[in-house]
Amino acid sequence: MINDKKVLYSAMQATGVLHIGNYFGALKNWVNLSDEFECFYAVADLHALTIRRDPAELRRSARNVLMMYIAAGLDPEKNCIYYQSSVPAHAELAWIMNCFTYIGELNRMTQFKDKSAKHADNINAGLLTYPVLMACDILLYQADVVPVGIDQKQHLELTRDIAERFNGIYGDVFTIPEAYIGKAGARIMSLADPTKKMSKSDENQNSVVYVLDDKDTVIRKFKRAITDSDSQIIYSEDKPGIMNLIDIYCAATGKAPADVEKEFDGKGYGEFKLAVGETVADALVPVRERYAQLEKDKAYVDGIIKENTEKASYFANKTLRKVQKKVGLPERIK
Ligand code: TYM
Repeated sequence: MINDKKVLYSAMQATGVLHIGNYFGALKNWVNLSDEFECFYAVADLHALTIRRDPAELRRSARNVLMMYIAAGLDPEKNCIYYQSSVPAHAELAWIMNCFTYIGELNRMTQFKDKSAKHADNINAGLLTYPVLMACDILLYQADVVPVGIDQKQHLELTRDIAERFNGIYGDVFTIPEAYIGKAGARIMSLADPTKKMSKSDENQNSVVYVLDDKDTVIRKFKRAITDSDSQIIYSEDKPGIMNLIDIYCAATGKAPADVEKEFDGKGYGEFKLAVGETVADALVPVRERYAQLEKDKAYVDGIIKENTEKASYFANKTLRKVQKKVGLPERIK
């Protein structure tokens, strides 16, 4: 607890620009949580190093994601928004917790398996220990809740296992966090292949709708979305393309799938796709506008980063010192 509030933690990797899966699956839900919780949101730039990156591009991406947090509506006075790499406690705790995590557990992670297949020429140790660093992000702030999309659920379960293992040996050091999966948009799928999740790294750029895409581009991508040869707008596992579009529409409007089925009863796919495209494009307009303002206001953004890094460091160091003491590392002589 901080200021009598439960603690909430989440992060996004500093990879490229954010897509509507990141936005509807995570970011949009975060905005409504800042009154109820003490919130920390990192830009996971250390995690982004598990894939070979151009240094200038990584720096730009990290700043883009940070500005996107604010543009999406996270008030930096209420939410602690910072770069993971600027708080060294993350990397320090990660080493210690590596020693409390089994290789077998890490080998089982779906994301590790997927990424190893995708980057067969660079299966580095960071890719394997990625979830340990993620666990440390969360545990350093004694987070109670972690809002994420479904794809991160397995990492959250591992976080709980590692924390419980550590607490079992040393007493109640860590709060055991819970995943918080939003109702709508928890799993937004690719527009080109609705059996795959929407992903920044997809080679087919028509499959991904970016938060910064302009209106025409958004509509064009939705018009091209893969559906089936039927013409009924029904929310069913047998119709993954339409199901995905309904999910996206629900995430953008707050409606339930049954309402959407009624709204488009008797209407064709073309009309439905256009409606989804327009609705999503309109929902993104304010985010894009705010983002453009932030891009021009370097001093404001820099000020936020400085203040919030200090705040994050304070809480992270408190936990790190406790852990160091528990495991028997020598006290620092001041
Ligand atoms: P990342 O950067 O892949 O994704 C950020 C958030 O967006 C969600 N998400 C999606 N939701 C719905 N549909 C999709 N297609 C989709 N794609 C991504 C993710 O679930 C996530 O919530 N390992 C994390 C970053 C991280 C983190 C943390 C998260 C680092 N440390 C600590 C929580 C707590 C990741 O790669 O997210």
